[in-house]
Amino acid sequence: MSDTKKKILAQIESLIQELEKHNYQYYVLDDPLVSDAEYDTIFRKLQKLEHEHPEFRLPHSPTQRVGGKALDQFKKIKHGVPMLSLANALTEEEFLAFDERIHKFVDSPKDEDLQYFAELKFDGLSISLIYENGTLVKAATRGDGEVGEDVTQNVKTIRSIPLKLHSQNPPKKIEIRGEIVFFIKDFEALNRAQLNQGDKVFANPRNAAAGSLRQLDSKITATRPLKGFFYGLGEAEGYTLPKTIAEFEDELRTWGLPVATWKKICKGPKQVLHFYKEIEGVRDDLPFEIDGVVVKLNSFAAQQAAGFISRSPRGMIAFKYPPKKSVTLIEDIQIQVGRTGALTPVALVTPVNVGGVMVKRATLHNQDEIDRKDIRIGDHVVIQRAGDVIPEIVEVLKEKRRGDERKFKIPDHCPICGSKVTKPEGEAVTRCVARNCVAKLKEHIKHFVQKDAINVDGLGDKIVEQLVDAGLVKKLSDLFQLEFDEVLALEGFAEKSAHKLLNAIETATSPELYRLIFGLGIRHVGESTAKLLAQKFKSLSKLSEASEEQLLEVGGIGEEMAKSILEYFADSIHQKELAELLKTLTPIEPKSSTATPVFKDKIFVLTGTLPTLSRGDAGKLIEDRGGKVSSSVSKKTDFVLAGEEAGSKLDKAQELGVKVISEEEFQKMLK
Ligand code: IVH
Repeated sequence: MSDTKKKILAQIESLIQELEKHNYQYYVLDDPLVSDAEYDTIFRKLQKLEHEHPEFRLPHSPTQRVGGKALDQFKKIKHGVPMLSLANALTEEEFLAFDERIHKFVDSPKDEDLQYFAELKFDGLSISLIYENGTLVKAATRGDGEVGEDVTQNVKTIRSIPLKLHSQNPPKKIEIRGEIVFFIKDFEALNRAQLNQGDKVFANPRNAAAGSLRQLDSKITATRPLKGFFYGLGEAEGYTLPKTIAEFEDELRTWGLPVATWKKICKGPKQVLHFYKEIEGVRDDLPFEIDGVVVKLNSFAAQQAAGFISRSPRGMIAFKYPPKKSVTLIEDIQIQVGRTGALTPVALVTPVNVGGVMVKRATLHNQDEIDRKDIRIGDHVVIQRAGDVIPEIVEVLKEKRRGDERKFKIPDHCPICGSKVTKPEGEAVTRCVARNCVAKLKEHIKHFVQKDAINVDGLGDKIVEQLVDAGLVKKLSDLFQLEFDEVLALEGFAEKSAHKLLNAIETATSPELYRLIFGLGIRHVGESTAKLLAQKFKSLSKLSEASEEQLLEVGGIGEEMAKSILEYFADSIHQKELAELLKTLTPIEPKSSTATPVFKDKIFVLTGTLPTLSRGDAGKLIEDRGGKVSSSVSKKTDFVLAGEEAGSKLDKAQELGVKVISEEEFQKMLK
């Protein structure tokens, strides 16, 4: 390798290390050292170098975290050491029986306390990571315990999982096991976004984690804020195992893997019970769901001595908590028609308290789900709630049936508009595809006028329904043609409120471009995708003409999304409606588009601390305007933007006669 190449490789390695350090600070320690913009600047620098030198695209580069090509299916991976399951203890007695039992297997007097390591039982999805010489090379799901699925591409998008272990001297090969979870807050946000995009919502954080990890399109996984906790060991080569699990987890932590902090070394069963109760008390305050604590013999030697019983290690037990479930009766089943035309069956149940919340309705998702669980009107069912989402039915109590329960079939016609519904082969969702379905129209308009879209203040669900029912609004653009008298004639309106509504509609006619794109309700296009599209295409007409290749160039847009965007704009009715909308709407283009490349090809070097801008922000302002940021001053440098305590770069600039500017001057140039 030539010296220049060596230098570039070293530079790439150092950028990778720097970025991964920031990832770790942000995603594992929750203690970022730099702003997002600063991170982006370094990231782009690396991206650029990798682009220029594809031969140095390293498997542990953080640029690999954005997802890659969509797969047709996952490859199977046979686990080197099977991924077993745990025996459960559901009561204190069962736990004490476990303690008693393993005394027989380990070499310690009966009345001597055994040392346990107690930690949380995360309610997620098991995962196995394989690191070779410190680099993450494979990640697999548990599957049936013997053979799992290769989800390496997807796992690489999880920012808190190191692509390289933080160790100078990593084992030749080590398999680390843990659990992938979705935090409750993230889960709720995801479901809100899914609803807005007309995509399916997840029943609980666990399903969201599973659905995200088992995505064939890793670009989608990359948008999901998955997290992981690690606690276990699979295969290993060239690794000296410490004596206890507690020490092993400490080692995982020093390697940069996320390890939960809620854990305790317990002497004897009493201390375990204490930990179990303590965690039960904080269970609802944890940011993720757990279904129990796992109690393990702390010593690996003792675990080995305890051996296995029917595919479970005898030296560990899952000490479970009662789930947040209640029993109630299904009084009726109704159909809801969503914005995308999806017909969702909803069970109306006798109101019941589920983990502190009164529940009246539970989603049944779709016909397949009803059939699979054999849910009937009149059934007693177990209802479960996760986070703040719509509760779901987990089980039918068939032994309570009296014979007069009624099966339910989603109708073949839309209950609202009466047109025939479709259920494409292989899909679970039944949809009303009628163009003029009033239910869809209402949801479409609600979506369009919501705060996150064009934001018509005061135009709530009820008024949308009135407008549609009165025949005043048949498509989005009709909103902008409403006349004062028409609004006034609606029930509940007076002169003042009618004026107010029309004013609010008027105010909403210059939304930011991305809000308008989001408001159109293109399938799979949520708020963040809309932002990316607006940033890239700058206008609705450009977006509508975008080719598949151009769409795929946008980071974060995968094949499925691209397809859906193309389909949307190819539709002649949509084209007509967009033209109509643009007669009244003047979307605000994203800021940087106004920034004609004033700094085109200008090379900046930043040094010192600027009074208001971070380096990252300044870098972004420069790059958005066509300029470049370089790390060292040379004759080619156009400007050195210097702040306080600027060091050698400033000297160099003066030496070479490069123009030095302050932030104030820089800000002026921006204008
Ligand atoms: S130890 C033999 N520790 O629970 C498997 N498992 O029912 C040893 N789990 O498949 C696993 N949190 O996915 C262990 N702190 C924890 C856990 C945990 C969640 C899951 C794991 C395993 C399942 C066993």
